[in-house]
Order: sequence, then structure tokens, then C-alpha cells
Amino acid sequence: MGKGFFISRSMAWGALLLGAVAVAMIVALSIVYAQEKSKNVSGPNGRTMAVTTVSTSTAAPTTTPTPSNNTWDRYRLPDTLKPQYYNLTLWPRLQVNQHGLYIFTGNSSVVFTCVKETDLVLIHSNNLNLTDIDGHLARLTALDRTIAPAINATWLQVETEFLVVQLKGKLSAGRSYQLDTEFQGELTDNLGGFYRSEYDEDGEKKVVATTQMQPTDARKAFPCFDEPAMKAVFYITLIHEPGTVALSNGMDKETVNATIEGTEVTVTTFEPTKRMSTYLVAFIVCDFAYISASNENVLIRIWARRKAIEKGHGEYALNVTGPILKFYESYYNTTYPLFKSDQVALPDFNAGAMENWGLITYRETTLLYDPHTSSNRNRERVVTIISHELAHMWFGNLVTLRWWNDLWLNEGFASYMEYLGADHAEPTWGIKDSIVLNDVHTVFQIDALVSSHPLSSREDEINKPEQINELFDSISYSKGASVLRMLSEFLSEPVFVKGLNTYLNQFAFSNTVYSDLWDHFQQAVDNTPSISLPHTVTDIMNRWILQMGFPVVTIDTRTGGLSQKHFLVDPKSVVKRPSEFNYEWYIPITWMKTGLGQESYWLLQKTATHTPLITTENEWVLANINVTGYYRVNYDGANWERLVHQLSSDHQVIPVINRAQLVDDAFNLARAKIINITLALGTTKYLYRETEFMPWESVVSNINYLFFIFDRTEVYGPMQAYFKKLVTPLFSYFQKITLNWTRVPSGHNDQYNQVNAVWLACLTGLQDCNNLARGWFRQWMQDPANNPIHPVLRTTVYCVAIAEGGAEEWEFGWEMFRNASIAVEAEKLRYALACSRVPWLVNRYLLYTLDPTKIRKQDAASTIDHISGNVVGQLLAWDFIRERWEYIIKQFGTSFYNVINGVTRRFSTKFELKQLQQFKKDYGSGAPALEESIVRTVANIGWLAENKEPVLNWFLSQNSKS
Ligand SMILES: *[C@@H]1O[C@H](CO)[C@@H](O)[C@H](O)[C@H]1NC(C)=O
Ligand SMILES: *[C@@H]1O[C@H](CO)[C@@H](O)[C@H](O)[C@H]1NC(C)=O
Ligand SMILES: *[C@@H]1O[C@H](CO)[C@@H](O)[C@H](O)[C@H]1NC(C)=O
Ligand SMILES: *[C@@H]1O[C@H](CO)[C@@H](O)[C@H](O)[C@H]1NC(C)=O
Ligand SMILES: [Zn+2]
Repeated sequence: MGKGFFISRSMAWGALLLGAVAVAMIVALSIVYAQEKSKNVSGPNGRTMAVTTVSTSTAAPTTTPTPSNNTWDRYRLPDTLKPQYYNLTLWPRLQVNQHGLYIFTGNSSVVFTCVKETDLVLIHSNNLNLTDIDGHLARLTALDRTIAPAINATWLQVETEFLVVQLKGKLSAGRSYQLDTEFQGELTDNLGGFYRSEYDEDGEKKVVATTQMQPTDARKAFPCFDEPAMKAVFYITLIHEPGTVALSNGMDKETVNATIEGTEVTVTTFEPTKRMSTYLVAFIVCDFAYISASNENVLIRIWARRKAIEKGHGEYALNVTGPILKFYESYYNTTYPLFKSDQVALPDFNAGAMENWGLITYRETTLLYDPHTSSNRNRERVVTIISHELAHMWFGNLVTLRWWNDLWLNEGFASYMEYLGADHAEPTWGIKDSIVLNDVHTVFQIDALVSSHPLSSREDEINKPEQINELFDSISYSKGASVLRMLSEFLSEPVFVKGLNTYLNQFAFSNTVYSDLWDHFQQAVDNTPSISLPHTVTDIMNRWILQMGFPVVTIDTRTGGLSQKHFLVDPKSVVKRPSEFNYEWYIPITWMKTGLGQESYWLLQKTATHTPLITTENEWVLANINVTGYYRVNYDGANWERLVHQLSSDHQVIPVINRAQLVDDAFNLARAKIINITLALGTTKYLYRETEFMPWESVVSNINYLFFIFDRTEVYGPMQAYFKKLVTPLFSYFQKITLNWTRVPSGHNDQYNQVNAVWLACLTGLQDCNNLARGWFRQWMQDPANNPIHPVLRTTVYCVAIAEGGAEEWEFGWEMFRNASIAVEAEKLRYALACSRVPWLVNRYLLYTLDPTKIRKQDAASTIDHISGNVVGQLLAWDFIRERWEYIIKQFGTSFYNVINGVTRRFSTKFELKQLQQFKKDYGSGAPALEESIVRTVANIGWLAENKEPVLNWFLSQNSKS
């Protein structure tokens, strides 16, 4: 799935930073809904398949035996059967039936081979109402002209989501059988399985039937062997209302009109799929329009609401898809395995996007781009998410990990590749560098807690759907991407690519475990004499994937000594999770010395000495060049001083990514009490001369923490004054290059940094900034049809104007939100409305999040998170969710727990800790987000006690200098 599935960094760190992170804030939750009863309506009589024998059993009616330790009580499929292909027909109804429900009916035949003798057929089925066939929930027949054993009993094992077919005799190994089912399900609005999405077009309500199967919801659409290794071919047919469009993984092959059960329908049959996993199956019935292009033999289509296509919002996606596909074909050295690539923008969608093979689904905001209302950040999001999903077409879809415990490799890989693909499509953006801010620095925050976990889980640890869902987190995505980037760097890209090519080649259409990939990289290394590693790829990489966390490397430039230590942001925390590697890593160190080029060194022990690192009095050492390694760096005090001095005298000597790194490492080392906070603050002093995006972004994310911790204390005033002084030259710089704010800068990163300038200037109370924002907003209020605010600055300006304004501004913002015809614009407003500081407005907005006619269900969590980003909103949000917790969890599922993380981000007192602990006692022991919040609060309390005084004094002393 695309990013945005898990709570992104903004959840924990960014809400204050509207400009910088607003769009990354889209929060999507893996919502596991309570089981719902489906109503009894008979299924369509779809086509029948040629079968040789029909089972003649007339055994007992459906019963559910009491639980025991039977095969059907385990969550994993036994290794007795292997599917070959499915014949699947589905008929979604886009109008409610007489019970007021949206339903679908269907039938499915799966042909499977028995690999081990068994008298049991277990197949996943969840929330489906199966129709009786000859007294059972399924019919079994044998192929190969033999006779299938008769059915003894069939029943649904609800807990493990199985349809159990118990036989009177045994299936024979080597033989093939066919299982037929007919069923009905509800097209719910809960964004999983086969579900519905609604939108208005020209005052008319339109319903879309669509799917989201990953990870375990294909079983909600049809009975299936719903594990990634159970690859099969799918022959799909959709029955739908004439005039609507039906889409699936394969190209439509035949469309005929027919009358079924007295209803005129269109029957669309699709080309059979490749051999693939159930979680990649997709089908959609809609009234969308499309634009298309041809990329050699591949048909590319972008689908969306008719209005959006008419207005050209799909053009950008169409333009970048071809080049990205081509890039991957050459990078993977494998042609795109299908003949078409459909990409569809859905009004309601849980994840950022989903890589269904040949039919990728997106949120509207991640596929559609309107140059008039979208910012460069929206555009970057579109190109990177498309790039992410297309990367999966090979890595994930063609070659699939055997089980979900290796999810990190699938998602980490796509999260790394998305930068390479996007860079190919937008070569002037320098987008590859942004992995450092977006992924490495972001996931460091999570991975520096004892509540983190290793990238790789053991297969037997991951069984239940909830356990699988929990793996879709920033560790899997961002840490996965970071360590793969490190691997690619120390192998060199050609070797990395070579290993990847042979891996994809060998395992096409089948399944692997992560060590298969390591083996192929090792072969590539062995075939490349110019490269030598101190250990095997497996030995090096296992240290990064089998133990959680990452090291801080300390370099002493007086002695040339190096040492490594597991970096924990809370120095008091106790690591309970054992590691076979003792929390030591094999670390590829890159470094440079004043005026000299890059060198490298492997740190293989806890401590070592490398004499070239010794410096003379005026030299400094800088390590982890461009942050290609997944570790932080600390130095002896004198070296820190020299680096800070270098920044102040000529910052350009230090590579721009490392300027961002110095700030991020220093602030985090200070939080971990490894260095003084005043030293970290010292790395910001040079910024009055800095105009580059990455260092500013790094500062802005780090002082975010200071603002959260201090915005209710006496430190706030002096801190604000200091940062105001620092940002004023940047604000003036942008005022100048934008000709007094009449245009936006041309550079991609300059556009971002302009947002930082305006945001920080307004936040710190620079009057020119507030006047600018409020003036623009007023102007817009007077003439709503002509928004004078450039899309790049809208999120920031809206937020500032609403934060400083009252009911009038808020109501206007709300009206424009309701009126917005494009999702990205609506999203900016939805975010900005959370900036209000007026309690009754904030409380009313909180209530709106529980009303799906006001705030879409998919947006509820992120809206609450946004609200808690502001100092007034946080208190109200905390009360709000505590008061309604049971209701909220019933509505949104347990993954809503993640909201706690954002709402409690400021917590830094014993009193607040007590509230959290009470909350845990009342509602949720064991929820990871709650644990994380408690750990963080404890750390904040300790940090505040030690640092409040020095920080206050430092700001006061800086402010007294002129
Ligand atoms: C570091 O990154 C910059 C910016 O992407 C690049 O120009 C430079 O070549 C990189 N340095 C090394 C040593 O790879
Ligand atoms: C840290 O700061 C304190 C007070 O500002 C000072 O006394 C102490 O020496 C500093 N420690 C280091 C290692 O610089
Ligand atoms: C910038 O524009 C504002 C508003 O139009 C105007 O008041 C101000 O004088 C302009 N400043 C400069 C330096 O041109
Ligand atoms: C909102 O949209 C409606 C219909 O398109 C329009 O009549 C109304 O004027 C719009 N409101 C504003 C404030 O633009
Ligand atoms: Zn993905």
C-alpha cells in the first residue's frame, strides 16, 4: 500500500508545522470493523461451470462446533491444498434494496490441487452470507473424472474467518478439485473488502463499488485462500448496471447486455489475470471517465469522477506514469508484466493508494493534480505515490513475499524506489535527497524508543489480521526504505541492481522470504571483483533488520576512536527485548575532513580506532555524508564547536544534507542527554544566512518539539523572540525573490522553503507576516470566486488567518471547505479549520468529526490530530476523546488508538502522565500507541526538569546580543 496507511510523522511531530507537513498528514487507519450481519437475499444465478461429478451429500445443517484446537481454530491455512484458478462472478447493487442496504451477490468456483491427503477444505470467508447448495454452504466436485468425497458438514468459523468443509472421505494428493460457493455480502462504507464510496456530481448522488483487499479482506468479497503465497489465476466477471463502467485487474474482454432476475444488466468479462495473490485482486463499478495514453505495448488509463477528468486533473498522473514505467522496466531489467495499467482516484479510500496489479487505486489527493489549486507538495505527493505503487508491480506483485512478516521488505523497497522513479519523472527537483527528511529522520524518532520493534518479525509471530495490520507502520515503510538505501550505497547501485534483476528473474510469479534477496545481492557481490565487504550481505543486513533501533556513532577526533551505542531518546529507558547481536551493528561509515574528499570505514566492533580521524586544531571531521547510513553521529566537544564555527563562517563547505543532519543529530542527542541542549541550539545560530530548504526544514521539525514542550511555559516568549530574529532575513529574502509576494519562487525546494519562512515568521509574530496572511484571507472573503492566495501558501495562510480570526473567518473557511470541488483544496481547509483558538469553534469542529456527513470517516482521525496541534485545541481534544472513547472505538476500530499519540504530544507533566495511565487502565492496556505516548511523556518530564532553565537562559542571552 502507499504511504499514509500508517500514522505519518506529522501525527507525532508535525501538527504545528502546517506548511511543512500538512499534506503528509493525511492519516489513514487500518480500520477493523466489527462484524456485521448480512441479510438473506439469494445470489444471482451466474454461469455454471463444466464439472464432472456433483457431490450428493445431504448431511446436517450448518452448525458451529465448540472451539477446540482444531485446524480451523488456527489462523493460518494448512499446507494441504493449493489453488490454481478462480472463476468469480460478482454483482454489486448501487441502489439500496428493500432493507435499505447496499449489497452484492456473487458466485465463485475455485479449482485447487490437493498436495497432502486431507478430509478438510479450509477456505477464508468473512462477513459473507453463503447460500445453501444441496444442503451445504459449498459444493465440492473432483476434476480428472474422479469422484469427490461427500461433504459431512460445512460451517463458518467466525473467529478465524474460515468456511470449513468437512468431508466424509479424503482428498487425494495430486488430484484437483473444485469448490463452488454462492454468496451475498454488504457493500458497506467501511473501506475494506468490496465496499462502496459515494460522491455528489451535479447534485446527484453517485455510488462507486470498489475494493481494498490488502491485507486480509479479499475474503470479504469472495471465499478464497487468502494468503499471499496462495497465488492463482483469476477469471473475473462483473454484472453491473448498463451505462456504468466495470474494471478489474485484467482488460475487459467481452461486454454483453442481459436480463438477470428481471433486471437489465451489462455483463463484463475480463482477461484472466497472471498468477497472483488474493490481496492484489480488485474490481470497481463506477460512473467514472478516463484519459489514456499508450506506452509501447502498455495502455495507461487514469480514471476519476467525470468532473475531475473534464477539468484535466488526471493529466499530470497520465504524463508521469509512462516515464516511470519505462524507468522501472530498465531498472528492474524486466518488462512490465501486463498489457494495461489502470489508475483510479476514489472519493473514499483508506490507504494512500493500493497497488492492485493492473488496477491501482488511490485517494483523489494522491492521483489528481490541478495546477490552479494544488501546491508543489501535492504534485510531489502524486508523483511519489504513483512511483511507489508502480514499483510494487514488480517488487510485491510479480515476486511476492511468502508471508506478512516480511511486509517491511515489500513496503520498504517501494518506499525507497519511489524516490528513484519520481526523480526520473521530475529530474530537476532533487527529490532523492528528500528521503533523508521524509524517511530517515522521521523514523529515527520512532526507532529511538524502546517500544520500537525489529523490521523483520518471525513468521509464527504474525497470525491474526490485527497482527498483520499492525505491520503497516513507519518502521516497515521508512526504516525499510532507509536500510535498503544504505545497502544500495555500500554495494554501489550497479551491484544492487544486478542482485535485484536476478532475484526478480528467478522468482517471477512466485513467493520468497527476505533471505532470498540477500542471497542474490551476495551473488552480485561475488561476481564483482571491485567490491569487497567485511562480512556477507546476510551478516551485515541481519543486524539492521533483526534488531530494533539504530546506533549513535561517537567519533573522538583527538584519538581517532570510534564507538557505537544503541541510540535511545530516553536515557532512562530499559530495553527489554533481547537481541542476538547485543544491539551492535556493522556500520558503513563515510566521513570527510576539512577540505578533503569522502572516505569510508567499517565499524565492526563496539569500539575501534581509526587514526586518520585524528584532527589538528583547526580541522573538523564530519561523518555519515549525505546521511546514507542509518545512524546518528556524535563527536567530541571540540569537534562540535569547530563544526558549528564552520557553519557560522562558511556553511556552504558542509554539504546541504549534512547541514540538516547536524541540526537533527544535535537536537536528538540533546534530548537523549548525550550533549547539551545549548550545543544543539548553537547549530541554529548560522541560520540567518541560510536560504536552503533542507536545513530549515530540519530546524523547523526540531524546534517543533520545543514549541510543543514550551508553548505553555515562560520559555515561550524569549524563544519566540529568538526564532523571529532568525527567520526575519529569510522572510525578507522570499519577499524579495517573489517580488513582494506577487509570484512563487521557481525552484521546487524554494517553494517549500518559502512556506517555512512564512509559517515560522507568522508563528513567531512577525507583523509583516500576519498582515500578509490576514490581508489575503480578507480579500478572499470579500470575493470568494477569486482566491488571491497562491496554492503553495494556502495551507499556511488559511491556518494563520483562522488562528488569528474568529467565527467569521471560521465560518467562511467551513463554507469554502464544503464548497471545494477538489479534494486537495478541501484538505487544506479541513486542516486550517483546526487552527482556530476559539474554544467553542474548536469543540464544535471536534463534534463534526463524528458526523460523516460533515467530515468523512477516513478524515476523522487526522482532523482530531490537527486540532490537537494547537495549544488550545489539544486540551479540548483530549477531553473530547476521553469522554467518547468507547463510542469512538466502536465507530472507527482499534487503530484509532493512534490518535492518542498526537493528542498527547505535549504531555510533559506528572499530572498528564497520571491521566494517560488512568486512560490505559480504563480502556486499553497493550495498545502500542498508548505505550508510546506513556514512554514519550515520561521522557518529556525528565527532559523538561533538566533543560528548562538552561534553555531559557540561552534564549535570553542570545536575545540580549544584537
Ligand atoms: C551528496 O548529495 C548531494 C546532493 O544530492 C550530491 O550532489 C553529492 O554528490 C552527494 N555526495 C556524495 C559524496 O555522494
Ligand atoms: C552543559 O551546560 C552546563 C550549563 O549550561 C555546563 O555547566 C556544562 O559544563 C555543559 N556540559 C558540557 C558537556 O558542555
Ligand atoms: C508590498 O505590497 C504591499 C501590499 O500590496 C505594500 O503595502 C507594500 O508597500 C509593498 N512593499 C514593497 C517593498 O514593495
Ligand atoms: C458555494 O457553491 C454554491 C454552488 O456552487 C454557490 O452558489 C455559492 O455561491 C458558493 N459559495 C461561495 C461562498 O462561494
Ligand atoms: Zn506500498
